[in-house]
Amino acid sequence: MSILEVKGLIAGYEPGLSIVKGASIHADEQEIVVILGPNGAGKSSFIKAIAGLVPITGGEVLLDGRDITYGAAHLRVRQGLAFVPQTENIFPLMTVEENLRVAGGVLPKSEVQGRIDETFTMFPDLARQRKLAAGSLSGGQRQMLAVGRALIVHPRVLMLDEPSAGLSPKFVEMVFTRLSEIRRAGLTIVLVEQNARAALAIGDRAYVLVEGREAHEGRAATLWDDPVVAELYLGQRRHA
Ligand SMILES: Nc1ncnc2c1ncn2[C@@H]1O[C@H](COP(=O)(O)OP(=O)(O)O)[C@@H](O)[C@H]1O
Ligand SMILES: [Mg+2]
Repeated sequence: MSILEVKGLIAGYEPGLSIVKGASIHADEQEIVVILGPNGAGKSSFIKAIAGLVPITGGEVLLDGRDITYGAAHLRVRQGLAFVPQTENIFPLMTVEENLRVAGGVLPKSEVQGRIDETFTMFPDLARQRKLAAGSLSGGQRQMLAVGRALIVHPRVLMLDEPSAGLSPKFVEMVFTRLSEIRRAGLTIVLVEQNARAALAIGDRAYVLVEGREAHEGRAATLWDDPVVAELYLGQRRHA
């Protein structure tokens, strides 16, 4: 059974105006699933709707077989579905450690410090910078802090919206290497990316989202060479 199953999801920001128009994906245990698509295809809206941050008007979101379609966003986090938004995913004026403490706020108080220490073991760079304002970190380190914040509740599924956006190639590689390691440690990852080549390099399967629906699905390793995808993705992008 898939850990995350999204069936025919319909979602949008205003009543009667769907942006996500019946999109379906699934992610299995320890898979990295990549979602590609042209600008404005609805990738961010889709992943936010799965996270409970954009109103859903139809379809289903199942986490481990349990229907969470209409659950509140903070409950989904507790149930094991974590989300790293593309922007505003840290508090820049708080220290690195404070950022983790806030993220651990949904945990029992007695567990928080242990989880923070665990995060510092996983991300030694963050440990070194624990007393610094998060806003003073490099783009790559800030992204790792955002991932650390999401992981602090020990989720089963980690969803990320364009974690490589705005990063230099060196940091893109660092972030993607980290995501591979996190998957090996047992997590399932759903990754929305513009940086298709880097994402497909670590991904197992991928979907191409076009106009609010998944238009293609395939193995990540072969997706790029698929002529249907080239037409869908590059053809659409040319008109974007
Ligand atoms: N907060 C919002 N309120 C209203 N419309 C939005 C909002 N965010 C995005 N949209 C619209 O949803 C559509 C899809 O955007 P988005 O989900 O950001 O696509 P992508 O991430 O694939 O570039 C766009 O037409 C965009 O204008
Ligand atoms: Mg987006």
